[in-house]
Amino acid sequence: MEKARILFVYSTVDGHTVEICKRLQQVVEREGHQPSLQELTADSDIDLAPFDRIVIGASIRYGKHRPDVLHFIEKNIDVLASKPSAFFSVNAVARNPEKRGPESNPYVRKFLRKISWKPPVIAVFGGKIDYPSYRFFDKTMIRFIMWMTKGPTDLNVTVDFTDWEEVEEFGRTISAME
Ligand SMILES: Cc1cc2nc3c(=O)[nH]c(=O)nc-3n(C[C@H](O)[C@H](O)[C@H](O)COP(=O)(O)O)c2cc1C
Repeated sequence: MEKARILFVYSTVDGHTVEICKRLQQVVEREGHQPSLQELTADSDIDLAPFDRIVIGASIRYGKHRPDVLHFIEKNIDVLASKPSAFFSVNAVARNPEKRGPESNPYVRKFLRKISWKPPVIAVFGGKIDYPSYRFFDKTMIRFIMWMTKGPTDLNVTVDFTDWEEVEEFGRTISAME
């Protein structure tokens, strides 16, 4: 297979989504491809033209991906539709394996209905809960959400819910995309 230039565009707040991208980068490199990572923010100006494949990853905060993600997708819809592409979402709800499908994860299901892009490959990963690093408001809110959904509520803990084997698998899928 030819060496592909694969761009990972990520939207993160606390850096977990970029950690996932770094692992994906290792996998596709191992598979003989050439990865690049670029952060998506309100003022980033990302040119997709030089790349053969595009992967967009974004985390959920308070029920949504950042609006920049939606704007970026709509702005680049023609390029996205013309190249092999993939999307992944990172959220705490996906700590439950049953909530890791594009239809079974409520955020991804809603998001896919909102955008015109139909990513041929989709993954959903459990995120990281890092209470000690959160501000008071976020800590209280996340703790409440966790209490409602039977997740960890001990404010001293950091829990990584990402199944890194699934990340590796997704990396291999991206490597084989055509
Ligand atoms: C302030 C805040 C709000 C969050 N809201 C949600 C949410 O509504 N639903 C959910 O499933 N996960 C939620 N999470 C969990 C994040 O999706 C998870 O921490 C993820 O790893 C964050 O990725 P990032 O570091 O790339 O931004 C929230 C986390 C924080 C800190």
